Amino acid sequence: MKAIEIRNKYLEFFKNHNHKVIPSAPLIPENDPSVLFTTAGMQPIVPYLLGAKHPEGTRLTDYQKCLRTNDIEEVGDNRHLTYFEMLGNWSLGDYFKEESIAMSYEFLTKVLGIPSEKISVTCFAGDEDCPRDTLTAECWRKAGIPNERIYFYGKDDNWWIAGEEGPCGPDTEMFYDTGKEPCSADCQPSCNCGKYVEIWNNVFMEYLKKDGKYTKLSQKNVDTGLGLERMAMLLQGKETPFDTEIFKPIMDKLESLAQKDDIASRRIVAEHLRASIMIVSDGGRPSNIDRGYILRRLIRRMTRHLNKLEIDLNKLDELIELDIETLKELYPELVEKKEVIKEVIVQEKDKFMKTLIRGEREFDKVVNRIKNEGKDTIDSNDIFKLYETYGFPPEVSKDLAVENGLKVNMDEVDKLFKEHQEKSRLGSEQKFKGGLSGTGEMQIKYHTATHLLNAALKQVVNKDVHQRGSNITEERMRFDFSCDHKLTDEEKKQAEDLVNKWIQEDLDVNIETMKKEEALKSGAECMFIEKYPDIVTVYSIGEISKELCGGPHVKHTKELGHFKIVKEEACSSGVRRIKAILE
Ligand code: ALA
Repeated sequence: MKAIEIRNKYLEFFKNHNHKVIPSAPLIPENDPSVLFTTAGMQPIVPYLLGAKHPEGTRLTDYQKCLRTNDIEEVGDNRHLTYFEMLGNWSLGDYFKEESIAMSYEFLTKVLGIPSEKISVTCFAGDEDCPRDTLTAECWRKAGIPNERIYFYGKDDNWWIAGEEGPCGPDTEMFYDTGKEPCSADCQPSCNCGKYVEIWNNVFMEYLKKDGKYTKLSQKNVDTGLGLERMAMLLQGKETPFDTEIFKPIMDKLESLAQKDDIASRRIVAEHLRASIMIVSDGGRPSNIDRGYILRRLIRRMTRHLNKLEIDLNKLDELIELDIETLKELYPELVEKKEVIKEVIVQEKDKFMKTLIRGEREFDKVVNRIKNEGKDTIDSNDIFKLYETYGFPPEVSKDLAVENGLKVNMDEVDKLFKEHQEKSRLGSEQKFKGGLSGTGEMQIKYHTATHLLNAALKQVVNKDVHQRGSNITEERMRFDFSCDHKLTDEEKKQAEDLVNKWIQEDLDVNIETMKKEEALKSGAECMFIEKYPDIVTVYSIGEISKELCGGPHVKHTKELGHFKIVKEEACSSGVRRIKAILE
């Protein structure tokens, strides 16, 4: 049975049981900044689970586009997905355990035709917050599941909550027995060996968790979720979702284009491409924070694996077209968004390629060095440096390390990044190294250009010019500096020429860590010395600039391209402002 048929049968079945079909909410939650993406069908329904009246009544059903990224690194195996579709039905203070279980059983056995003996179920074993769910077990027995296929587990397995707080409750999960050999005499649904596959989860939401405590909600709800891709896989007798019609065309195409045979890479490309298409179609755009960063990460990972498969990256356009052609059966709205989807994904791929090629080269050097030294772990500082000097993302370093059979201590890497962010934060709070909220490739270049302009103005105007503020975006830099007069055209031209001369000289950008006093003694420039920690980083550019700074910067000035002042104006008393661009 194809996925679209499963979805249609599901909605039809619940419609026939007096449920109203409601539309899928966008993947990007509309009024909920607390979550990055919709992760479950219940998410848009939370207010109604808490007691608000839903305009469509007390019985609802839908298919919901969902994205979960906690397991992003597991994608490539035979089951993990980031994007998936969840079929769901809800009772908002209407029916409860008995009816919910009876309907699920009927749908699985009568509508989908799954033999009853292939189904096992689990129930909540009970603890100090909530009693053992004997009623649920009773309902299953009544429906037709014998005792030996009814299991009881604790909160880890049979309690469901979205995140830390909110509506929640004991659940009952349905498992499909694939018929594989049990992994041991004690093989159970809770086991991860692959014999049992979870197919549906019915949550009996009658509790609210707040401040670590459970209280009863004003109504008893049912919230269920059935993963569409997984169900399609099982009903089609396939081993993985990548073998179903949802992924098959793109998987085949990747196989035919690839020069290297690597099934994990093909799955990663197919999975991340679909997820990226779905995010972009719901308005997501790549950026350096939150949702945008997740999309960026998905596209970067996909690009890297396309590259690994030695697929011509100019084919990405074609791959997106093919995938939309496949996915339109489930999501016809993709067709009219095709052009923008292509544009966003291809552009992001292009941007990343430059960083990737350069970074991978440097990464290989690090790997060779480590292997020559007979070590098996990459130093966290190496990963941090690759990021700082080449903008090479740490998660890419991690992926590559694993592929090279090396270990990484990501906790330590995270610590270094936190320290780095702390320095940037101190900087931006003081508004003198401000605006570096994102550290994309362009921001890094503008950051270095800021240091060059600071040095040039000292030479052209006078040595008492000091930085008073800075703000950087992907598109331009703004630099505020102490100066008692409007710059003449001649001064502007000289400063611009000087910066361009230094860019052309391809000066080295060096980073050192030293004591604050030492840095000052060496003549390094800074504005609010007391705001820096005792140990500081100092960036110098050739012989012409030396500043206390959290970075990051480019490695060589030639990377900046051409520098151009677009505006010079008054900022405040005794402070002028220059806006400049790199082209
Ligand atoms: N909200 C439940 C889940 O996501 C149904 O598993």
